[in-house]
Amino acid sequence: MSLFIHVPWLLCVFQCWGAVISGSIPVLHGEVQSPGYPAPYPPSLHEIWDLLVPQGYTLNLTFTNIDIELSEDCYYDSIMVMFGKRFLGRFCGRNHVSKGDRPGKYSIMSPGNNLRLVFKTDSSSPGSHRYSGFSAIYQAVDINECTTEFDKGYMCHHFCSNTLGGFVCSCRHGYQLQPDNSTCFPVDCGFPVPKNGTLRVVSKIPKTLYQNEIQFGCESKYYRLEGDDVYRCEAQGYWRSLNGSRNLPKCVEGIVNLLY
Ligand SMILES: *[C@@H]1O[C@H](CO)[C@@H](O)[C@H](O)[C@H]1NC(C)=O
Ligand SMILES: *[C@@H]1O[C@H](CO)[C@@H](O)[C@H](O)[C@H]1NC(C)=O
Ligand SMILES: *[C@@H]1O[C@H](CO)[C@@H](O)[C@H](O)[C@H]1NC(C)=O
Ligand SMILES: *[C@@H]1O[C@H](CO)[C@@H](O)[C@H](O)[C@H]1NC(C)=O
Repeated sequence: MSLFIHVPWLLCVFQCWGAVISGSIPVLHGEVQSPGYPAPYPPSLHEIWDLLVPQGYTLNLTFTNIDIELSEDCYYDSIMVMFGKRFLGRFCGRNHVSKGDRPGKYSIMSPGNNLRLVFKTDSSSPGSHRYSGFSAIYQAVDINECTTEFDKGYMCHHFCSNTLGGFVCSCRHGYQLQPDNSTCFPVDCGFPVPKNGTLRVVSKIPKTLYQNEIQFGCESKYYRLEGDDVYRCEAQGYWRSLNGSRNLPKCVEGIVNLLY
C-alpha cells in the first residue's frame, strides 16, 4: 500500500530533476537578449534566464547593449543580475553602455559557475519612445585553482598544475600522491626482511621512509658482514646501499665482527 502511494511521487521527483537539469546544461559561451531584441520589448514581462557554465569555470557576463526605460532605482523596467540570492547589478537607461566604452567594460564576473538574469517591465506602455531592451554575451573563464588567492596553499600539498576546468596535484621527488589526490607522503620502502636469519637491522629506531637510512649487522659475533652495512630508502621504493647495491649484505662465518 505504502509503495503504491510512493511510486507516483518518486516519478515526479525524477521528472522534476530531469527538467531542471536539461533546462540548464552547462555551456562554454552563449548569448542572451530581451524578447524580440532589437525590436522594442513589450510591457508586463518577467523573464528569467539561468546561465550555467561547467564546474571549475566562472561565468563572465558582458552587456553589449542596454536600452531600457530609465527610472529611479530602475523601479519600473530593469535587468537584474543575481548569483543565488545576491544582487550583482540592476540596470536601466542607456547610461551603462555608451559608444566610447571599451568592450568588456560592462562585464560581471560571477563568483560561481552560474548567474541568473531577471528582466522585468511594468504594465504601462513606454509611450512614444520605444526601448530595444538588452543584449549580452557570456563565456566560461577557467579558474586557476593554483593561484595563491584561490588555493591558499591547501589544495595541493606540494605542486599544483592548473588544467581547463580543474587542477592536478603532484609531489616532490620521493613522495607519493595519496588517494585523496592532494596529499603527498614520502615513499615507504618497508622493513627490509633479510632472507638469512643471521642478518639483522641494527639501527635503534629504524625508519623506512624516503631517504631514511638503516644499518645491518650480524646476530652473532662469530659472523661478519659481507657487503655494505648502511642502506638508504630510494625514491623508487627500494633499499640501496650507499655504494649502490640493491642486494642485501650477507653474514658469513669467520672473523669476529669488531662491532661486538
Ligand atoms: C569578460 O568578457 C569581456 C568580453 O569578452 C572581456 O573583454 C573581459 O576581459 C572578460 N573578463 C575576464 C576576466 O575574462
Ligand atoms: C583521484 O584521481 C583519480 C584519477 O584521476 C580518480 O579516479 C579518483 O576518483 C580521484 N580521487 C578523489 C578522492 O578525488
Ligand atoms: C663500499 O664503499 C666503501 C668505500 O667507498 C668500500 O670500502 C667498500 O668496500 C664498498 N663495499 C662494497 C660492497 O663495494
Ligand atoms: C646465511 O647464513 C649462513 C650461515 O648460517 C651462511 O653460510 C650463508 O652464506 C648465508 N646466506 C646468505 C644468503 O646470506
